[in-house]
Amino acid sequence: MSNKKNIDTAFFGQPRGLSTLFFTEMWERFSYYGMRAILLFYMYYAVSAGGLGMSQTTAASVMSIYGSLVYLSSVVGGWLSDRVWGPRRTVFFGGVLIMFGHIVLAFPWGLAALYSSIALIVVGTGLLKPNVSDMVGSLYSENDRRRDAGFSMFVFGINLGSAIAPILVPWASNGFGFHAFGNHYNFHAGFSLAAIGMFIGLVQYYFDGKKYLPEAGMYPNDPIERKDLNKIIQKVVIGVVIVVALLVVMALMGQLNIDNIINLLTILAIAIPVYYFVIMLRSPKVSKVERSRVWAYVPLFIAAAIFWGIEESGSVVLALFAEQRTVLHIGNWHFAAANFQTLNPVFIMILTPFFVWLWENWKKQPSAPTKFAAGLVFAGLSYMWMAIPGWLFGTSDRVSPFWLVGSWFIVEIAEMLISPIGLSVTTKLAPKAFKSQMMSMWFLADAAGQAVNAQIVKYYSSATEVPYFLIVGIVSVIFGIVMLFFAKKIHSLMAGVN
Ligand code: PHE
Ligand code: ALA
Repeated sequence: MSNKKNIDTAFFGQPRGLSTLFFTEMWERFSYYGMRAILLFYMYYAVSAGGLGMSQTTAASVMSIYGSLVYLSSVVGGWLSDRVWGPRRTVFFGGVLIMFGHIVLAFPWGLAALYSSIALIVVGTGLLKPNVSDMVGSLYSENDRRRDAGFSMFVFGINLGSAIAPILVPWASNGFGFHAFGNHYNFHAGFSLAAIGMFIGLVQYYFDGKKYLPEAGMYPNDPIERKDLNKIIQKVVIGVVIVVALLVVMALMGQLNIDNIINLLTILAIAIPVYYFVIMLRSPKVSKVERSRVWAYVPLFIAAAIFWGIEESGSVVLALFAEQRTVLHIGNWHFAAANFQTLNPVFIMILTPFFVWLWENWKKQPSAPTKFAAGLVFAGLSYMWMAIPGWLFGTSDRVSPFWLVGSWFIVEIAEMLISPIGLSVTTKLAPKAFKSQMMSMWFLADAAGQAVNAQIVKYYSSATEVPYFLIVGIVSVIFGIVMLFFAKKIHSLMAGVN
């Protein structure tokens, strides 16, 4: 290689720009998961304890629909980057909105702040997250062999930020260990720390990105033309009118309340991926082989949605279990219920090297559909495991924190079988004409899973935990087993993709 010295290897052998994106996404995830670690408690704790005093069921449902919308909006973010702003600006705007979303909650402004914060962070994350990942890919030429390793490092950044935040943010809410806020929590201090995290990420992105990110990211890769723009504006106006009309009708019927809005959003989060599938399957731009691959993606999508439903319920259902049913100390070592949120990313960081090794060395390794099926079985087992303590000891006392540790360990095995594999299979199964829409599908699987959660978490409480964990767990296991039987069939539909 004569031009070896021209290859940028400044960040652990990777292009220097990877460092920029690594830290941007690390801080963004820090702010997001830090906020989520305390948000549930902020919503349903009594006002006297520093909370908003919402009902626990509404709080749990809001957590889930919020988590759904954050990834649903990636459809809009991907589109704006492709057609209007290019990824570099889109990410920056997104980060600014996210930061303001956390700043709003740093003030004691009650429900108004909660809903504005949700709106800002939903839109901001939609702008930032898909495009920051997309830019990682653009650092490498088609045949650069460092590409996969680059993505792994990027995912490590996600988990690093996600792991630190559930320690630091709850700690800030609790007066940094000084009990500075007396007996109740100052969640606003926690949200401030989330805002500061996003601020650091933005500053770093702005100055570092100027030097190290490719210039091409400043431009949309498929800039929109005047005539298209008019059509789009028409469609958006029609969409907005429909939504407003719907809300007005609901208001007139006296049905405009948070529960019904959540129901509406649940339907939306399921309808959008269905719509995308129909468009792709019917498009004349999709060849016969490509169509078969899209069909193969249908069961993979459903499996991913079920998996993400269980995985994402960690910040809702398992968080409630931590708060209400778990002994919050081991010997003299005390911790907060919110701290448990660190377990998911910590286990990912621990398990990743093992799975990387496994996929590199397992000669006759199973196909992606089989890995997905196994993932569903593990996800289901992580829930069935949680039915055991209540079944053995009843649900009125607290149980050992190791129940939760075990559950997260099992679900993270599932995550290793589904998340990285799903990401790579999604790109490979994408029809040429729908590359970026297909990438959005991966986000939409998570969004669909959480939309379903927004409905079912309402049935969770200490009184119902045993059947809840058992039923949802069994559903996932059954899906996994059924999928195992169809794995060969799905694999053949994938037409050569592995
Ligand atoms: N924990 C994942 C992340 O933060 C959740 C996720 C999965 C997001 C799939 C998008 C798509 O990146
Ligand atoms: N499990 C979360 C995600 O996949 C942290 O990164």
